[in-house]
Amino acid sequence: MARKIVLTSGKGGVGKTTICANLGVQLASLGFRTVLVDVDMGLNNLDVIMGLEKKIVFDITDVIMGKCRAKQALIEDTRFQNLFLLPSAHYSGRTKILGEHIKSVLNMLDSSFDYILIDCPAGVDAGFHRAVFSANEAIVVVTPHLSSLRDASKVIGLLNEYDITSKGLVINRMRGDLLACGEMLRVEDVVRAMHLPLYGVIPEDDAISTSGSVGGYLNSVDSARAFTLLCENIHSGTKKIYDCEMKYRGLMGYFRRNLRKKV
Ligand SMILES: Nc1ncnc2c1ncn2[C@@H]1O[C@H](COP(=O)(O)OP(=O)(O)O)[C@@H](O)[C@H]1O
Ligand SMILES: [Mg+2]
Repeated sequence: MARKIVLTSGKGGVGKTTICANLGVQLASLGFRTVLVDVDMGLNNLDVIMGLEKKIVFDITDVIMGKCRAKQALIEDTRFQNLFLLPSAHYSGRTKILGEHIKSVLNMLDSSFDYILIDCPAGVDAGFHRAVFSANEAIVVVTPHLSSLRDASKVIGLLNEYDITSKGLVINRMRGDLLACGEMLRVEDVVRAMHLPLYGVIPEDDAISTSGSVGGYLNSVDSARAFTLLCENIHSGTKKIYDCEMKYRGLMGYFRRNLRKKV
């Protein structure tokens, strides 16, 4: 049976979809059959982040309407073995899609996969319910900003109403240079505010912000390391957290901090 993990946050733009795609790559590279499910109907972009948007033939709505089987709608990733996407790209809003529908589609895939990662839309309305309803576990994604934490704490409260057996926190876009200067909320403070076990910390990746052309996969050595640890923590229950601040400490760190400020 697959572990069904929803990535949620309340607030948009904190990195749910990016983390879904990059975590999917890590799990798949360890040999786990992984499917990423885009439940962000209408504003879907998981297909774009994975660079698979041109390969979509069927989507989750087609499966729900009985036009194809769940496996027919899956797109196999071209670059990473064991990684699949179940897109929602053709959703027009005319069909009312319920959490129960998504759940029945995911049940069809259950026995063929190790991990099903569900990319949740922003907000806490029908889209949130649709995404969370079929999950057994949740990853709450936050950035170290008060607006993100406030929305996430609402989401954490709502998750208690679902059949979610474990929840954990991922702090995204952490900037080691700002941490070292005391200009960003610290990991401990975020964890204390959210009352959730910490699954991982992902650094702000300048490569993704500047490259644009390579989809949404994070490219830097630092974010690759952070995702490796996140993946291990989720799969094996370890508690290894990437230290974003490390390279900004000491004399060399001082120069790195100043250099980054100039970029
Ligand atoms: N760790 C990161 N470093 C740099 N940019 C990031 C990082 N995580 C996400 N982003 C960028 O932030 C934007 C929003 O990310 P996205 O995953 O679409 O958020 P969400 O799914 O929560 O709305 C995207 O442009 C993405 O490339
Ligand atoms: Mg998204």
